[in-house]
Amino acid sequence: MRTPFLALILSVTATASPLPSTPTSTCKDIEIPITVSVPRFIINTTVNDNWDAATLTLNLTRRDFSTSADPLPISGNMTSEVESTYVIGATLCGTGGPMLVLTHGIIESKLYWQPTFHQAQPYSFVDAAIAAGYSVLNYDRIGVASSSKVNSLSDAQFQVETAVLNSLITYARQTVNASQIALIGHSYGSYISTASASQTAVEAVVLTGFSGTFTYFDPFLAGAGLRVANLRDPGRWSDLDSGYLTSSDLYAESYVYFAEPYFEHSVAEWAYRVASEPFALGELPSLLATDIDYGNITAPVLVLQGKYDVSACGGNCVGLLNATKALFTGSEVVETVDDLPAGHDLNLHKIAPQAFEMIFNFLKAQGL
Ligand SMILES: *[C@@H]1O[C@H](CO)[C@@H](O)[C@H](O)[C@H]1NC(C)=O
Ligand SMILES: *[C@@H]1O[C@H](CO)[C@@H](O)[C@H](O)[C@H]1NC(C)=O
Ligand SMILES: *[C@@H]1O[C@H](CO)[C@@H](O)[C@H](O)[C@H]1NC(C)=O
Ligand SMILES: *[C@@H]1O[C@H](CO)[C@@H](O)[C@H](O)[C@H]1NC(C)=O
Ligand SMILES: *[C@@H]1O[C@H](CO)[C@@H](O)[C@H](O)[C@H]1NC(C)=O
Ligand SMILES: *[C@@H]1O[C@H](CO)[C@@H](O)[C@H](O)[C@H]1NC(C)=O
Repeated sequence: MRTPFLALILSVTATASPLPSTPTSTCKDIEIPITVSVPRFIINTTVNDNWDAATLTLNLTRRDFSTSADPLPISGNMTSEVESTYVIGATLCGTGGPMLVLTHGIIESKLYWQPTFHQAQPYSFVDAAIAAGYSVLNYDRIGVASSSKVNSLSDAQFQVETAVLNSLITYARQTVNASQIALIGHSYGSYISTASASQTAVEAVVLTGFSGTFTYFDPFLAGAGLRVANLRDPGRWSDLDSGYLTSSDLYAESYVYFAEPYFEHSVAEWAYRVASEPFALGELPSLLATDIDYGNITAPVLVLQGKYDVSACGGNCVGLLNATKALFTGSEVVETVDDLPAGHDLNLHKIAPQAFEMIFNFLKAQGL
């Protein structure tokens, strides 16, 4: 279904004649080989079919989960460092200067930041960022869409994905001549962005779909109706191992990612049918077992939330972000917005253009 996107580009060209070129014409799809060397958790659970997916959901949402009585499905210590080379599929827009590096969440892909449905431009963070004068690096996480297929247990782990982002920051500075870098995250990608910013100096961090607590994670895990991706849609996902999971159906995915009446149903349908990509079994336990050193982040931080976010806030973020703000003890500037009329997938709600403006205003106030 490439036609709508092409049609959009053509129609934008036709109506934007005073401009020398369309924003997206500065973009190209690239592949970036990245070698990382990091220890791995040994994940001692397997999912072979949907019975296992149901059991996993019970295990992860039990009242006593993550207490000593029922530890994470991780056995013993990490391995010593494991070296791996992955190919990262990315869209690169612009030629240096201030650059935004975008990391998407789970059951998503880089399309979250640059939707392709008919008349998607108001929802395109990438287009808005280019119009605001930024370069953009928008990539698929390992295991997702255009990036390398990797093992769901041993490769797709939080600290590996953090190391990939650290390398992409180096790539952006050294190869693409970025003068300043802002990490922009959504959901799981926000956690990766904070971990990376705690290890690698950047100029700003913007977090969405994020509260810094897993207290409200159960409704997300249970509500998504986790299913083995290669069984739910073999046509799309037969090349992924059984440890890749996705939502059960459109309405389960809408419960966890959208809030009525602040979105168009057609957008949620597109997200489910086109943009959403499975996540890997190794990703959540490895995140839960990692202590992110929030206090070592010195860059300015903006946390921008849809009020009705299920996974971050249990469906109501108002007042909850005070505790989030308190995590960033090393940042002189920490701003929060807890009440935008949206669910978890902020960019795919009608408020998106205003949310993008808030992000760019924040970045410009920080000198980016
Ligand atoms: C769920 O937990 C039970 C008991 O702790 C364990 O035997 C089983 O392997 C776990 N299943 C999955 C898929 O995690
Ligand atoms: C995984 O290993 C840990 C540590 O050995 C153990 O406590 C836990 O019960 C194991 N989990 C499963 C599902 O086997
Ligand atoms: C884990 O590592 C610690 C410190 O290196 C070591 O003392 C301990 O024996 C290890 N445990 C296992 C189960 O390998
Ligand atoms: C980055 O700068 C170097 C040296 O100034 C130049 O050779 C190179 O083409 C630039 N790269 C990009 C992607 O603009
Ligand atoms: C803290 O951040 C700085 C860069 O800002 C980095 O050089 C240092 O390694 C980080 N410390 C840790 C423990 O990650
Ligand atoms: C959060 O902080 C604001 C002021 O920054 C305060 O008005 C509000 O009462 C706080 N909410 C909670 C739940 O602590």
